[in-house]
Amino acid sequence: MRPLAGRHIVLGLSGGVACFKAAELTRELVKAGATVQVVMTEAACQFITPVTMQALSNRAVYTSQWDAREANHMPHINLTRGADAIVIAPASADFIAKLAQGRADELLSLLCLARPLTAGRPVPLLVAPAMNREMWAHPATQRNVAQIRADGATVLGPAAGDQACGEVGDGRMLEAEELRDELIAHLRPKLLAGRSVLVTAGPTFEAIDPVRGITNLSSGKMGFAIARAAAEAGARVTLVAGPVHLSTPRGVQRIDVKSAEQMLAAVLPQAPRHEIFVATAAVADWRPAAAAGQKIKKDGSGRVPVLEFVENPDILATVARLPAGERPYCVGFAAESHDIVRHAREKLARKGVPLIVANDGPATFGRDENTLVLVDAAGETALPRGDKLALAHALVAEIARRHRKAP
Ligand code: C5P
Repeated sequence: MRPLAGRHIVLGLSGGVACFKAAELTRELVKAGATVQVVMTEAACQFITPVTMQALSNRAVYTSQWDAREANHMPHINLTRGADAIVIAPASADFIAKLAQGRADELLSLLCLARPLTAGRPVPLLVAPAMNREMWAHPATQRNVAQIRADGATVLGPAAGDQACGEVGDGRMLEAEELRDELIAHLRPKLLAGRSVLVTAGPTFEAIDPVRGITNLSSGKMGFAIARAAAEAGARVTLVAGPVHLSTPRGVQRIDVKSAEQMLAAVLPQAPRHEIFVATAAVADWRPAAAAGQKIKKDGSGRVPVLEFVENPDILATVARLPAGERPYCVGFAAESHDIVRHAREKLARKGVPLIVANDGPATFGRDENTLVLVDAAGETALPRGDKLALAHALVAEIARRHRKAP
């Protein structure tokens, strides 16, 4: 997957030990499909060489505003025209101070000041601070950071943790993968700006006794991908997750649950606070009527325990029955093994929802790829086979379009 294909990124390095992470970031951006133009300050060249950065970006690195390679002698203009973003990583305290003051005494600060903001296509500026915690906490730095934000820059991080100086605190630059993902998210169209999305994901676990239970093979990957895609599309996202081993997408608020009843209890108060509800969870249909308080023991007699089951609440149908005004736009999933569209259409009616997303259960559980068919009153729309994140983005676009039109 190359989410940055066709994108041109200017990656600026100012001085700091975190310059080593900029090497990794360059690799990540190139792997994601971007072309990367590296620009380094004199201080950055003390920490990592232009040779390394040129090899990784496969492009000549710029370090001086007096670079004679540019025919018009204006690298500060040429380098940002046609760029999709400028990323400063690492951004030192001194460099942020320069940005805040609009100083332009070397190439990198000069090109930031000269980037298109008003005319043509504006070039976003993303800044990843990296410095000692005292420098970060200093009122001067905090003032400068507030100023560059007010001037339109996006500040990524910093994170807290171990620092190169041996101290521990705020000021660590985000990791290369985190910066890559922030940039990808920043460049996504904001189809759900100002909207809120509630997602359920993963299996549920229905206890039989303290050490056993019934569950299913849902990995939660599709639901997590939808939560991530919705957040990247600008939505406020709450994710109610059954037991899965997946990390929470950036910017998403996560509520962990185990059983269907817990999932319902988590969803019900949230539903009226969200405009869109996407139920991807593979909720167990039944649960043991009563979970044993102690482990059920094998007694050697050959007799097996007989379990009685009761039906679980249908979370999606319950939300779909909320009164208008409290009811979000509801999207259900249908994992079937045959007659996919027919079953999806039945489910549309039975659950009383405007959209069902059908997929082939056995072909998708635990996999990274999937195929989806959207079934609604207007007909069927197939989304071509792809990885779950690409599909999630396509699905989010379809949901955003339908939600805008919904009564
Ligand atoms: O009824 P079935 O499990 O086939 O329906 C699947 C859809 O309903 C999914 O969107 C799933 O998340 C949702 N569902 C639910 N609560 C249940 C069962 C299914 O929210 N108890």
